[in-house]
Amino acid sequence: MSAFAWTEAMSVGVPALDADHRCLVRIINLLEEAENDDGRLIETVINTLEVYCRYHFAREEQVMNACKFPALAFHRREHELFCRAIAEINGRKSQASTVQELLDYLKAWLLHHILIQDMAYKPFVADAPNLEELTSTMAMHLPSIEILRQTGAQL
Ligand SMILES: [Fe+2]
Ligand SMILES: [Fe+2]
Repeated sequence: MSAFAWTEAMSVGVPALDADHRCLVRIINLLEEAENDDGRLIETVINTLEVYCRYHFAREEQVMNACKFPALAFHRREHELFCRAIAEINGRKSQASTVQELLDYLKAWLLHHILIQDMAYKPFVADAPNLEELTSTMAMHLPSIEILRQTGAQL
């Protein structure tokens, strides 16, 4: 698969959620960089991805709820299935074939999810009030991001 990068075409119209998506892309790319590293870094990256996904999905679901997005229940189910898939692959971590399998899956899933499913709520955020306030109050400190920074990762 070609280089994985966030582009303007992936913007959902909410700066905090775009920032989350950029961060998810970055974490997935870190996994690619960690592929030939020791198992500990791979484990940290996968754990960070799992934690950040849960954080982002919760924040995104709050935004969809505030916008009265009609397909929220379906969208939430997609998020949950993805979290379960990562947790399952996480349980089999550290094998090179598993990391490659995970990378292919993550890139394909995230790209498709942002461009098709996240993009579906974009028209609803345009007129929603106080989204900036809502997303900023949900911002939280993520210990695993700090661990990654300590490894020298540029997030
Ligand atoms: Fe989503
Ligand atoms: Fe998203």
